[in-house]
Amino acid sequence: MNKKPKHVAIIMDGNGRWAKQQGKQRVMGHNQGAHAVREIVEAAAEEGIEYLTLFAFSTDNWNRPKEEVSILMKLLVNSLKREFRKLIKNNIKLNSIGDIELLPIPVKEELQYVIQKTKNNSGMKLTLALNYGAKEELTRAVRAIAFKVKNSIISPEKVDQSTIIEHLYTRNLPLVDLLIRTSGEERISNFLLWHIAYAELYFTKTLWPDFAKEDLHKALLNYGKRERRFGKTSEQVNA
Ligand code: FPP
Repeated sequence: MNKKPKHVAIIMDGNGRWAKQQGKQRVMGHNQGAHAVREIVEAAAEEGIEYLTLFAFSTDNWNRPKEEVSILMKLLVNSLKREFRKLIKNNIKLNSIGDIELLPIPVKEELQYVIQKTKNNSGMKLTLALNYGAKEELTRAVRAIAFKVKNSIISPEKVDQSTIIEHLYTRNLPLVDLLIRTSGEERISNFLLWHIAYAELYFTKTLWPDFAKEDLHKALLNYGKRERRFGKTSEQVNA
């Protein structure tokens, strides 16, 4: 049996379909999705997960209808406001990845406020991916490194994997051990491409608003049964 994952990342998918199934507007799916975020953050901390990274808003989500984007942004501000005390109580440290400069000012301000207030917490590190896309993240990193090379701050032959990692939004996060995606879709959708290089993938048909602590526990049990080989043979791993 492997140990439990240190870093779990989740693509929270299926809010819209959940709402449709209930004959409700998409907004109700997102509301219920925010409830699931609350439950899973607490459950992950209870399970002893050290890093939890949630894909809350992608660079491509701006292409959704304007009203839906606006509802998601309002939900974010409200959730941050409402959940702030719980993060403190549970010793959770909040951070974000992605270009937050492009977020509406109230979202950016509330996010920065909670990040600042939880910065000394020593428990689970909760990271919200907001206006995040892994291809954009890698492009930014390449551009920054190219500038440093051009200005002779780094020599080209010194550029290695750690140089790349240092220029990613995810530079302070360990590699992902377990990536969960809900709703039955089996794709990565531009999430954490570098950091999931050796992640175990777990797909479940459960829609995000229905994803409960028992579902997280099931995913962790499944992960525990997997043999992670990182390119080695099974014999080497078990030696
Ligand atoms: C995918 O469902 C989910 C999102 C686009 C965003 C995730 C947002 C939340 C869970 C709500 C609040 C978040 C926080 C962090 C408080 P979808 O709309 O793509 O579902 P569909 O594929 O069924 O249409």
